[in-house]
Parts: sequence; C-alpha cells; structure tokens
Amino acid sequence: MPTPKVIGIDLGTTYCSVGVFLPGTGQVKVIADENGHNSIPSIVSFTDRDVYVGYDGLELADANPQNTIYDAKRFIGKIFTSEELKSESSRYPFKIFNNDGSAEFSVTTNETFRVTPEHIGSQLLLKLKKMAEDHLGVPISKAVISVPAEFDERQRNATVKAANLAGLEILRVINEPTAAAMAYGLHKADVFNVLVVDLGGGTLDVSLLNKQGGMFLTRAMAGNNKLGGQDFNQRLMQHLYDQLNQVYGSLPSRKEEIHRLRQAVEAVLKEGHLHEEEVDEIVLVGGSTRIPKIREVIRDFFGKEPNTSVDPDLAVVMGVAIQAGIVGGSWPLQVSAIEIPNKHLRKTNFN
Ligand SMILES: Nc1ncnc2c1ncn2[C@@H]1O[C@H](COP(=O)(O)OP(=O)(O)OP(=O)(O)O)[C@@H](O)[C@H]1O
Ligand SMILES: [Mg+2]
Repeated sequence: MPTPKVIGIDLGTTYCSVGVFLPGTGQVKVIADENGHNSIPSIVSFTDRDVYVGYDGLELADANPQNTIYDAKRFIGKIFTSEELKSESSRYPFKIFNNDGSAEFSVTTNETFRVTPEHIGSQLLLKLKKMAEDHLGVPISKAVISVPAEFDERQRNATVKAANLAGLEILRVINEPTAAAMAYGLHKADVFNVLVVDLGGGTLDVSLLNKQGGMFLTRAMAGNNKLGGQDFNQRLMQHLYDQLNQVYGSLPSRKEEIHRLRQAVEAVLKEGHLHEEEVDEIVLVGGSTRIPKIREVIRDFFGKEPNTSVDPDLAVVMGVAIQAGIVGGSWPLQVSAIEIPNKHLRKTNFN
C-alpha cells in the first residue's frame, strides 16, 4: 500500500489534529500523539529549558501562565486597533503587544522576547508534522490546511506562513465548513444544500453550502468570531466567581448566546435566499455542538435532526485529509470534490 505523502491539518483555536487519506482502504486515518490523543491542545509553553507543545504545554499552563500562549488563531494575520488589542490582552494571562496593528506575545525565559501568532502556529504545526512522520515512518513536507470560511487573504497567508516556518508546503487551503461537509461524505450523497454549524473553541461559523456537480459553493455565511467554548467557559468562570463573592452575583444570560446562534442561522438563510425546508442536510461540527441546548435550538428551528454521525471534534480534519488525498492523487477521480473560492461574499457578523 502506498504511503500518503500529503497530510491534512485542522489548526483549531483550542485543539488541532492531523490526518491522512489511506488510498488502499479508502479510509481516513486521524493520527494520534504519543499518548493516543486524536487532537492536541493549541497551546505552546516556553520555559528556559525548552518549548512545550500540545498536552505538554497544557500541563505547564498553571505553573507558567505568562509564558503559555493559547488562542493564537484569534490573532493570526489580523489587524487590530490599539484599543481592541488592549481589551483582548485583559482576557489573557500572557502579555500582548501591538506591532503596527499586529499582535505579538511577550515571553520571558532566560531572556525576554516576542513571538508572533505565526510562530505559535508553526510550533503546533511542527508537532503535528512530527506526529504524522512518526506514524507514517517517512518525512513529510506537504500539507492541506483548513481555515475558517471567514478568514481573509491576510489571515490565510499568515496561516500558510506558519506552515512554511514548520517546513510544510501548503498545497491547498480549504474552508473548515467545506472540509466538514466532505467528512460527512456529502460530496457524493444526493444532497444539494448543506448547512454547516461549526461551534468550536473560538468561533461560531455557520455556512450554507451549495453543491454543484462535486463542487462546493459557499452561498452565505454568518457567525461570530468571538463566540465559542472558550467564551462559554469564561462566562461560567465569571458566574462562579460572582456567586462566590456576593450572594446575588449577576447571572450571565445563556439565553443571549442561544439567541445569537438562532440569529446567525436565520441570517445565513436570508442571504442565501433559501427557506428552512430547502436545507437538505444540517451538519454539526466543533466540540461545543455537543451542548444539548445548542442541538435543541437547531433541531427546533429546522424541524429536522442535525447530522452528528461524525465526531464533531474530528469532522474538519477528516475532510482536510480527504482533500489531501485528492491533492496527493490517491482519490478516485470521479468524486474529486473541490471548492469554488467565493471571495466577494459578504459575511454577516453577530459580534
Ligand atoms: N461535551 C462537551 N460539552 C460542551 N462543550 C464541549 C464538549 N466537548 C468539547 N467542548 C468544547 O468544544 C471546544 C473545542 O471545540 P473544537 O475542538 O471543535 O474547537 P477548535 O477547532 O479548536 O476551535 P475553532 O474551530 O473555533 O478554531 C472547547 O471549547 C470545549 O470546551
Ligand atoms: Mg474547529
């Protein structure tokens, strides 16, 4: 059986994963780390000894909070005003500096230095590359990577740069919702309009995809790039904190988040000029779609059970791995699903 030469990578806000398409069996293999984890935390911790990535980084988070960088994807390739960066910094235990509108993290080990979000990304990608190499037993230098549909050219380029720094040539950048749709096999099923709801660690991404002869077209998208499991966790923390400090702590309204989700879904449909009934398939992606209330809201709105047959944490990486198989030439030609880039699409944002 030929060894796959192109790997597929999902570089998530909170977790990332790597996978390959196995031409022999036609299966996707998600590659585990040395301890058997299918995803690794998107965390990089710097000490005067070494750089610790993934679960090793997470272990150091409590002891070394100022030098443990996470959520770098929220900063990569983005231009901020100084006020925006200041308010972002207040959410994190590490220091964030403004370099001409770009974020940079300050790290102090033997010396104090700054690292870019691209550098953090490259450390994560190096680890994923090594996991793949250990598993496959061959050096890997080519990859397909996914990014949120809403990423602009600058954010996409910065992600590619992170991969280049890790010694990976990126053959294709694919949108996360498209990857997820492919993981569900929707590139071959008798389905035309697919709604992908991706609620991960950092972003809510709702995309309406239209399939035309094996190609995916993004008809509309909406979401909130500052709403995900990390925010729910933060709210919950705040809630507990308030409760502990005063008997009548202010209650964070979960209703509001759910309302926003509903709004995002409704907008997407309006922009795509489609009715609820016309959506053939609803695909749930992202760890936070495990929250029962989220599933309930979506089910009630569409009067239809969302498709959750693929592990929501792994749907994106599985789709990217399929793309890696297509790009690597090991996918049967008749189902070569590709994506039509839709650069002029306006995104409805619910920040
Ligand atoms: N059973 C669960 N119930 C609630 N939340 C969960 C559950 N399992 C995972 N999560 C949440 O899912 C989030 C991680 O999801 P995922 O790995 O899809 O995000 P990501 O890909 O890193 O982020 P993004 O796609 O936004 O860049 C975490 O915030 C985690 O708290
Ligand atoms: Mg994700």
